[in-house]
Amino acid sequence: MNDSSGTDKRASADPGVAPILSDAEFELFRKLIYDAAGISMAPSKKALISGRLSKRLRELGYATFREYFNWIDKARNDPAALRERQNAIDHLTTNETYFFREPRHFEFIEKRLIPHWAGRSVRLWSAASSSGEEAYTLAMVMEQHHRGSWEIVGTDISTRVVAAATRGQYPLLRANNIPKEFLRKYCLKGVGEHAGTFRLESKLRRKVSFRAANLQEDLSSVGMFDLVMLRNVLIYFDLEIKKRVVANVLRQLKPGGCLMVGHAESLHGVTAAVKAVQPATYIKEGD
Ligand SMILES: C[S@@+](CC[C@H](N)C(=O)[O-])C[C@H]1O[C@@H](n2cnc3c(N)ncnc32)[C@H](O)[C@@H]1O
Repeated sequence: MNDSSGTDKRASADPGVAPILSDAEFELFRKLIYDAAGISMAPSKKALISGRLSKRLRELGYATFREYFNWIDKARNDPAALRERQNAIDHLTTNETYFFREPRHFEFIEKRLIPHWAGRSVRLWSAASSSGEEAYTLAMVMEQHHRGSWEIVGTDISTRVVAAATRGQYPLLRANNIPKEFLRKYCLKGVGEHAGTFRLESKLRRKVSFRAANLQEDLSSVGMFDLVMLRNVLIYFDLEIKKRVVANVLRQLKPGGCLMVGHAESLHGVTAAVKAVQPATYIKEGD
């Protein structure tokens, strides 16, 4: 990386020495992820941030976190710096997810929502989809039980996980929670160079699409939905951001539509526009 004087800013980096994240540098990254994604990081997350970014610093040859931060924060007109800013945001999000996570939600969809939707064309949204497991779990349940057409949209702020979700290919170990019948009907085991992985059937993938979207921003381009899963993401937000995100999401939910949050999350004090029908499951008023 050359600065305007042509000096290589990264020449001092020693690949054998791990950079140390100072408290002041930690604050810079904490503010970056709060401003970009609304994610609040407690001071206890310092080691996490350092661990997630230091490999990247070494790859790029930066000796300190501040130099790296200055590059991604200030160079607004530099496409490479903007790409790296997104990359840093990707690294600072927590993307843990798995198939059939919190199965009571999928039981509710099968037993209560799908009978109610019978014959109708429905749109479902995995609003913090991570690498796609939630959206594809929904897809398998819909394909198995819904009589009528359906479409699923997954969105996430991390472009890295959106790309992984679009591929829809996972290590075989991740298939553990998928019922045998669904594995047989909707998943293909990889062979040759894809051995050790499986991929969702193309007939399912055709009805599931993913795109990058920030829950803090206007989401009207995703359209209106009958069900929104907003699970295990509110925990990262403070009350003000939670209110904004839930209001944004509810604007895209049809009256009478269903909103699901993670079982460790609650909408108490966040919105009065929904009523709880079972833990972590709400119906939007107005049907
Ligand atoms: C822990 S994962 C949850 C995945 C899935 N919903 C589940 O319950 O298994 C949280 C996801 O929220 C995404 N996320 C965090 N802040 C976001 C924001 N402001 N807009 C969109 N997605 C965000 C992260 O990138 C991450 O992939």
